Amino acid sequence: MNKTADMAIISNEFITKKLTIMKKMNAIGLDLEKSKEMAEKLNDLLANFSVYYMNVRGFHWNIKGEKFFMLHEKFEEIYDDLAEKIDEIAERVLTLSFTPAHAYSTYIEQSQIKEVKNVSCGREAVESLLEGFQTLIMKERAILEMAGDMSDEGTNALMSDYIREQEKTVWMLSSFLQK
Ligand SMILES: [Fe+2]
Repeated sequence: MNKTADMAIISNEFITKKLTIMKKMNAIGLDLEKSKEMAEKLNDLLANFSVYYMNVRGFHWNIKGEKFFMLHEKFEEIYDDLAEKIDEIAERVLTLSFTPAHAYSTYIEQSQIKEVKNVSCGREAVESLLEGFQTLIMKERAILEMAGDMSDEGTNALMSDYIREQEKTVWMLSSFLQK
């Protein structure tokens, strides 16, 4: 085999290798397999946020009693914040090159947080809120750890913001519940 043919083979091998490496990355240069796993975890979080969001809207609508005005407003503030985060999580999934879960049937099937209906007692609603935030924080911590392992700084930053904010909310909700 002559030298030119040799070079052509080497160069072909090089290109094939390079293409294989490129194929394993997503658009933002993260490992594709790991990004897929991350997208699945984010979709699980998205399902939990979505069911939780609807629960909080229900609390906002159905709450009764002396603390109505205060709780009605507080619940609105919380579900508005959840709605913003729902959009951020979904768009993070897209940024990782995958599709965000976008059907109620999927959310209901996947969510660890279950639907809560017909709550009109303020205390019961706040207890449910607290439990929901605790579930979200545990899930966000697991995602944060995985994001660190795969150098996914974008997801990492998002999760650490959520955890910090929601931990503070847990403190406030716990204080509310103390007699
Ligand atoms: Fe309202």
